[in-house]
Amino acid sequence: MSESFAAFLYLVSGVLFILALRGLSHPTTSRRGNVYGMVGMGIAILTTLALTTPSAGGIGLIIIGIAAGGGVGAYVARRIPMTAMPQLVAAFHSLVGLAAVLVAAAALYAPTSFGIGEIGDIHAQALIEMSIGVAIGAITFTGSIIAFLKLDGRMSGKPILLPMRHAVNAGIGIAIVVLVAVLVVSESTFVFWLIVILSLLLGVLIIIPIGGADMPVVVSMLNSYSGWAAAGIGFTVGNLALIITGALVGSSGAILSYIMCKGMNRSFISVILGGFGGETAAAGDDDMDRSVKLGSAEDAAFLMQNASKVIIVPGYGMAVAQAQHALRELADLLKENDVEVKYAIHPVAGRMPGHMNVLLAEANVPYDEVFELEDINSEFAQADVAYVIGANDVTNPAARDDPSSPIYGMPILDVDKAKTCLFVKRSLGSGYAGIDNTLFYKDGTMMLLGDAKKMTEDIVKSID
Ligand code: TAP
Repeated sequence: MSESFAAFLYLVSGVLFILALRGLSHPTTSRRGNVYGMVGMGIAILTTLALTTPSAGGIGLIIIGIAAGGGVGAYVARRIPMTAMPQLVAAFHSLVGLAAVLVAAAALYAPTSFGIGEIGDIHAQALIEMSIGVAIGAITFTGSIIAFLKLDGRMSGKPILLPMRHAVNAGIGIAIVVLVAVLVVSESTFVFWLIVILSLLLGVLIIIPIGGADMPVVVSMLNSYSGWAAAGIGFTVGNLALIITGALVGSSGAILSYIMCKGMNRSFISVILGGFGGETAAAGDDDMDRSVKLGSAEDAAFLMQNASKVIIVPGYGMAVAQAQHALRELADLLKENDVEVKYAIHPVAGRMPGHMNVLLAEANVPYDEVFELEDINSEFAQADVAYVIGANDVTNPAARDDPSSPIYGMPILDVDKAKTCLFVKRSLGSGYAGIDNTLFYKDGTMMLLGDAKKMTEDIVKSID
């Protein structure tokens, strides 16, 4: 295959990746987006194979690699529950980081195979790309493993704050930059592995101080890193598709991190510096009356049946309980009773972007009933009932009213403005940010303590 035809095919795959990202931005087009991505990747792989014309043994190895990787990927993706998706993504990122390290090592030890010079005489440009790629790859590898362990509950989600951590991290960062310069001049394999070891260490150190609630931002940040690492390696191996894909993943991950930070009113720097979510803070004033109004499924059924407008606010607890199907059944029943039903989605409800949208789509909730925060917030004042199901932080009025609260300034859904706020959760405990929610103790709130799915099913049974 000619180089120019291969470049054209890589361009086609690049366009398909862009269409994939566009498609994935909405539930109605996400399946199509996935297909675009798969076709784009198929074209990129076949073009690379056609360009490199590997030996028969090489082809065998490639087929084994694709079959093993694809098989494991398909098996894991089919089995994984939606609630475990963030940790799965983190685990996958670690593999991208590891691949970047291994490809860079292969290029260093066998430069002729990569067309970047000979042992002892590798082009300086290739050494720079390789060493930057390997450093980002190694940071991504260990950083993603720590993110996986925290998100999967195998390691405490609390920030681990080492003394002088900023100085230590900065020192290691500077040492890596110096070693990259030394590697370019000396081409020493010892320096190469020193860069790898320091970067692996830095990956651990920059992620351990970050609290569990900030982890989704970190996963998206590591996603961005893995993209840049892949782009760096794309330069080393001279593969256009890898450069395009890496740059797309790198920039889209960075944009997503920015959007999430905006949703939580946190600066990216404050997330990266870590420490948030370490202590359990009590919000609101301590003299307030802390009695709560408890209700039953029958009370909730009565209130909802007699309402003219109900706004449903799902959160992480709905995902844990897998209550989306029961919720849709409830909404259908209410609509049969001439109640207007809408769903309000906070940008960071759940544990990953679009978490709630995916679950509601899975339960066939019509897309035109699902609204983003800015489109629905003004409607709570006209709603008779806000049905908050497994959501907590995203409704906490402290974010709006209490300047001393750690989540002050985070946009919230104004559920307290509805005539009645029905809160389904298992206890009066706090949400992910570890902050008490004063809404539980307000007059217009009725707490429905129990599992989100069971409670919603009981309400359905109580509606006649
Ligand atoms: P949370 O504030 O974490 O509240 C979820 C609530 O669900 C908990 O208070 C829990 O209370 C309840 N719950 C858990 N299992 C349940 C079950 N089986 N049945 C009923 N209730 C259950 O969730 P949220 O309101 O969705 O807010 C998201 C949080 O994650 C925010 O702090 C946000 O900043 C953070 N975050 C999200 C993202 C993205 S992109 N989504 C990114 C970064 C950070 P009980 O234990 O009492 O039941």
